[in-house]
Amino acid sequence: MEKKKEIVMSGIRPTGFLHLGNYFGALRNYVKMQDEYECFFMVADLHSLTTHPDTKELKANVHRVLAENIASGLDPDKAALYCQSHVFETSELYLYLNMLAYTGELEKTTTFKDKVRQHPDNVNAGLLTYPVLMATDILLHRASLVPVGKDQEQHLEMSRNFANRFNHRYGNVFPEPIAFNYGDKLLKVPGLDGTGKMSKSENQNTALFLADEDDVIRKKVMKAKTDSGPTENYSQKPEYIENLFLLMRLVSAPGVIKKFEDDYNNCVIRYGDMKKQLGEDMVHFISPIREKVNGILSDEKYLKEVMEKGAEKARKSAKATMVLVKEAMGLNYY
Ligand code: TRP
Repeated sequence: MEKKKEIVMSGIRPTGFLHLGNYFGALRNYVKMQDEYECFFMVADLHSLTTHPDTKELKANVHRVLAENIASGLDPDKAALYCQSHVFETSELYLYLNMLAYTGELEKTTTFKDKVRQHPDNVNAGLLTYPVLMATDILLHRASLVPVGKDQEQHLEMSRNFANRFNHRYGNVFPEPIAFNYGDKLLKVPGLDGTGKMSKSENQNTALFLADEDDVIRKKVMKAKTDSGPTENYSQKPEYIENLFLLMRLVSAPGVIKKFEDDYNNCVIRYGDMKKQLGEDMVHFISPIREKVNGILSDEKYLKEVMEKGAEKARKSAKATMVLVKEAMGLNYY
């Protein structure tokens, strides 16, 4: 008999515009997982309401994040790719789990405290129960593996607590979900400003976005910090130079990388040439993805089909869980 595949679930915030850090850090893992696990990848549109009550941009953002994920290799025929708000069972389980979550533990959550500091004028109850909604997304599919970054660890721990509490009070329904990222192979994608990793910070020039036009890509790369080059053979690279090599290793051919490594080691490297090459290789890598994204975005019919298909798969799984939940809770009166 075929072994049942483990269930992977993760949520993607519809804040739009993925950058190379997202691509190599998260997305490429999702793409690999969809062949090995039963995967649910969800656009967290309801979560975004906790901080963005204005929904003018929501539709465009949801479409973009779907298009960017598909263009990067997520296959709606393999994984369930869906919107949170299309799975109504989310609201139902969220309500039940809220009864198991203590306000004290919710108030102590780091992300909650941060948000309160950032937006003291909009400390709504949805913000407080954000971790309950996230636990709902995961438990709704009885998922055990959750590919997320470090910043979501606390939420995930809370999901385990809620699952555990439910199981103890009402009977064993939920596995306790753990973080999952193919362990050691998480790629570091540095930013173009010399330090740290690529992030969507205030400075748009440190990140390369999948939506960036060719000229923008070239310009950003050319602006990266360099110096006059090493003066001793085989000297250690300063961080901002090492970062350029790291970026090169993501997109350039082995021969090209070797040439610049050798040039560096022999003190004849010309950073202008290196950045020009890196810029071209980045354009070569990003532009087909960007064009694919644009193609998908212009095909609303296709996007609608994707969302319908995803919602259907997700709801089937959610409904099966809700039967077990209601049975366990004694909410089956007839
Ligand atoms: N909170 C996650 C983030 O900010 C997004 C998210 C929502 C999520 N629901 C989830 C992640 C379920 C993993 C599982 O990135």
